[in-house]
Amino acid sequence: MVEGSNSQGRDGTGGAHPPIILGIDTSCDDTGVGIARGEEVLANVVVPQTALHDRFGGVMPELASREHLEVIDEALESALRAAGLELSDVDAVAATHGPGLVGALLVGLSYGKSLAWGLGVPFLPVHHLQGHLAAATGVKPPFLALIASGGHTALFAVRSWSSVEELGRSRDDAAGEAFDKVARLLGLPYPGGPALSKLAEEGDDHGVKLPWPMAGSKGLEFSFSGLKTAVALLLERQPDVDRADVAATFERIVVGSLMEVTRRALEATGLRRLVIAGGVAANRRLRQEVAALGAELGVATTFPSPALATDNGAMIALAGRLALRGAANAASDDGAEPSEGHDQTAALATDASPYLPLA
Ligand code: KG4
Ligand code: ZN
Repeated sequence: MVEGSNSQGRDGTGGAHPPIILGIDTSCDDTGVGIARGEEVLANVVVPQTALHDRFGGVMPELASREHLEVIDEALESALRAAGLELSDVDAVAATHGPGLVGALLVGLSYGKSLAWGLGVPFLPVHHLQGHLAAATGVKPPFLALIASGGHTALFAVRSWSSVEELGRSRDDAAGEAFDKVARLLGLPYPGGPALSKLAEEGDDHGVKLPWPMAGSKGLEFSFSGLKTAVALLLERQPDVDRADVAATFERIVVGSLMEVTRRALEATGLRRLVIAGGVAANRRLRQEVAALGAELGVATTFPSPALATDNGAMIALAGRLALRGAANAASDDGAEPSEGHDQTAALATDASPYLPLA
């Protein structure tokens, strides 16, 4: 299966074409294999593990790793089929090296490294959040990015692809994690975000009293675990409380808090474009409030397509492309605009072992 080297690029004419990059993400509970040619996504296969983890109400790390191993070959084959390519067409392989569940990461990382080695093409270790940022195709820095997923909630000032500054993150639970945990308290299935959001449509968003996260803070951090605990206490004290009201109030506060901190970051940085990525970007209320905030502040807003906003392999391929392009710029002395690429020297020097969040 693994044959040939294609590091010069192929377009059948001997000329250069945008590099074809295979991207792999196995950071959590979805096996993602995507293929990008330049900024064009040719394939984006995601094999979800929802049913596997549903009965536990959350992701079981060891089960996730085993399942990645089980399906990754087939995911790669489907991606190649969808793109109409052979493995030998691939110019570079990118895989998430972290952050994420270590066992799960190891599967995609080892798989990607072996593939690259076998093909004789560069291997590009990608930071998972760089992948989420790169999913904003068609958007050129500078922009502010809010990443809100099950694993992360953070704001980044992306001034150029080589200057990405984290402005603030959640001190505790990620927004999606809070949705999932509160959904579980409400007896809803995993992943809880979509189910909770649906229930919220039937409720009064001021129906119950819940605390506002980080009230009075002027900073750029988030916090959602106090809110989650408040829901748990409320349900304990008032078992008959209207669950739709709880869902609606909780959703209003999470989205409101995300917007409050994002507004502060826009005002503090003066950035005129906002990109929202991560699974929570699918939330209807969030989308409405982002649009309203953008209109009020005169800031352009962008949501990557849902398929690129949630965890997937194509975004890792896109981030790999930026890394590769940055390397080309760094290596050339033709005055190529350095801000157009990642600091590739750094990206290529990245230790291609799994990133250990606690290390
Ligand atoms: O980005 P993602 O697919 O994977 C992670 O990196 O975690 O995000 C998944 C998260 C889950 O926590 C899920 O509950 C949340 O995104 N989510 C939502 C909605 N759809 C997905 N949260 C709120 N409202 C939604 N409609
Ligand atoms: Zn993610």
